[in-house]
Formats: sequence, C-alpha cells, structure tokens
Amino acid sequence: MSDLKFATLAVHAGQEPDPLTGAVNVPVYLSSTFELTGIGTDKGWDYSRAGNPTRDRVELALAKLEGGHSGHAFASGMAAIYALVATLHAGDHVICSHNVYGGTVRLFNMIVRHYGIEIQYVDMSDLEAVAAAIRPNTRLVHIETPTNPLMVLTDIAAVCQIAHARGVEVSVDNTFMSPVLQSPLQLGADIVMHSTTKFLNGHSDGLGGALVGSRPEHKARFMLVQKAAGGIMSPFECFLVLRGIRTLPLRMKQHEENGRAVAEFLSTHPKVKRLAYPGLKSHPQHELAARQQRGFGSMLSFDLGTRDAAGRFLAAIRVFLNAESLGGVESLASHSASTTHASLTDAEREAVGITDGLVRLSVGIEDKEDLIADLAQALAKV
Ligand SMILES: Cc1ncc(COP(=O)(O)O)c(C=O)c1O
Repeated sequence: MSDLKFATLAVHAGQEPDPLTGAVNVPVYLSSTFELTGIGTDKGWDYSRAGNPTRDRVELALAKLEGGHSGHAFASGMAAIYALVATLHAGDHVICSHNVYGGTVRLFNMIVRHYGIEIQYVDMSDLEAVAAAIRPNTRLVHIETPTNPLMVLTDIAAVCQIAHARGVEVSVDNTFMSPVLQSPLQLGADIVMHSTTKFLNGHSDGLGGALVGSRPEHKARFMLVQKAAGGIMSPFECFLVLRGIRTLPLRMKQHEENGRAVAEFLSTHPKVKRLAYPGLKSHPQHELAARQQRGFGSMLSFDLGTRDAAGRFLAAIRVFLNAESLGGVESLASHSASTTHASLTDAEREAVGITDGLVRLSVGIEDKEDLIADLAQALAKV
C-alpha cells in the first residue's frame, strides 16, 4: 500500500472491502461493547472507548495519508489538541505559534495553564525567538501553519531543527492545508494534528479531530489518552471522515483553483486591505509557502476597515454563507473577531492583528465565476 500514489491511498488506505461481507464501504460498527472470547481474550476489540473497528480504519487512513506510524481519531479538533498536552506534567513548558485558532488559545489559557503547565506564545516566523524561548522544561513546540485567520507561515523544517537540537518535540496543526498540500512529518515534525471537521470531512456534517504520530511511543501515549480521557470520534463520524477522504484530492484541486482566483480578484479591489493569501507574490512568505506546501489552499483573510463595513459585507453575500468553520464544499465568510477569536481579549486580538474589520473566507468548490460575482456585488454594498 505504501508505494501507492496519494490519490490512490485516499480511496483505498484503510478502506479495503469488509472481510466478513465484501462490502466496499467500511461498515459503521455501532457497538459500545464486544463479546469476549474468554477471560482476557477478545477478537481485537473489547470496548469502543479503547477501540472500534470503524475508528481503526479511519486511524489507519489518516496515518497513511500523513506518512506516520499511527493515527488517533478524537471527538473534535480541540479534543485532539487537548490530547497533545494531556500527558504533560505541572512544571512543563509549551511553546505555541502566537496567532493561532482562538479555541487553541482558550484551551491553553483557560484550562491547561491551571494544571501548572506553562504556555508561551511565540511569533514563529522569527526563528531566533523560537530558539530563545526553549528552556530545559520545554516539552512541546506547537505550530499552526498557516495560521487562522492571518495566514502567517512557520518554516516547519527550521523550527524542527531548533527544537530537536534541544530534545523538544514538534506538533503541527495541518488543518488549513490538509495532507494533500502539506506533509509536516516529511519536514521533520513529530506529530501532525487535524480538525477533521474541516477539509478531511469536507462536507460540514461532522466534528472530529486527529493526531498522527511518527513513532511507536506516540501510539502508546495517544491510545492511553483516548482510553483514559475518552474524547474519541464516534463510529458514524469516523465513517463520514472515511467517505470524505476518498474525494479529498479532487476537492483540494478545486479549492486551490477557486482560492487562487478569488485571491487574485480581491487583490485588485479598492475596498480590500491587508489581503492575506500565501499564493500571492505580495504575501511576505510566498517563497516559504511555495517551498513548504504543495499549493496555497483556499483560506484567506482581508480587512474592510471597520466592524460596520464587515457587517455590511456579510449581510450582502448570497453564495458565500456567513458562518464559522472552513474546509467544506460550500464557501463561507466569517468575522474572526466575533466568532473564531471571540474568546480572546481586545488586547490579545490587537496584539496579533485580528482587527474588527477582518473577514476570513473559506473558498468552496462552487463555480469560481459565481463566487467572484458574489464577492463583487457584496463589496459594492460595503
Ligand atoms: C486551525 C484549527 N485548529 C483546530 C480547530 C478546532 O477544531 P474543532 O472545531 O474540530 O474542534 C480549528 C477550528 O476551527 C481550526 O481552525
């Protein structure tokens, strides 16, 4: 299997016909418990929190797509990020990219810090700052690249070199790129994290998260967190992600084409300021994006100046929907300050540049001419 190309893996890895019936789709095993064959013996599963046959398949598929040792499916992206730090101890230190998804900051600041784990936010585009932040008690460097919503990149290979020289693991939130456009483990990262809610599922009909580890110790660690803390992906959600994965390469092609077209249109529009799309030559990290990624994706953000202007734009869109989330087939627009980053204080948002006029787009797979026409008519009303 491992010598197959990505699009073939997406259709087949973990999705072999059911050995019992020959069904070409992975059955959804809606069973919390499994009959044992004796005392301490079973047919491979005993209780669904510890393991479920449908979950096994999506975990295998995710591990193959990311080129890792083991995959672990969680109830949401946040449950997966929680699993990254769940086995740390009081006194440990974590370094995190400084403008990440607001939910990650909420988890770290409002829950994980209370366990005595120190969290330090660092601008990871500054490699010297990363090196300076590492201490003897640093256990993890967590990167989100590109960041949500400002599309700031981190040089994964360079940060891994710095962290590994000091014995520190690196995890990468690969949600915005999907395994089609970026392979953090190949760039040296130890663990990849996904919100499968986004591109991997692709249809905005299920929540989920995943970790892919690169070594056997990750498998033991994350299986323990799944069994002990219980934040696992349900069998039905596993099925939805498996189904989504089969069309992921095709969808990403269209996302990419539409994302570029929309970014080019916005780049010449007089009402659009601070357009952030790594595929544009004007993006300060365009060269890094071209080197590190296999495309530029369909996420972008721009500033309309004021909250009112952003509100007028969001009220006027007709094909794009005013909604949180991303990575589904439908195009979405959202006001970051009041949605994904609402849990940050005004000062925290200002410090990273999430202004009141900022709008984020997740460009879907509709006809790009319809998308551009919709944006043009909505911007005319701003
Ligand atoms: C980059 C990123 N990471 C993690 C998450 C959290 O994922 P979930 O909503 O599945 O918990 C999100 C959600 O928007 C995200 O954008």
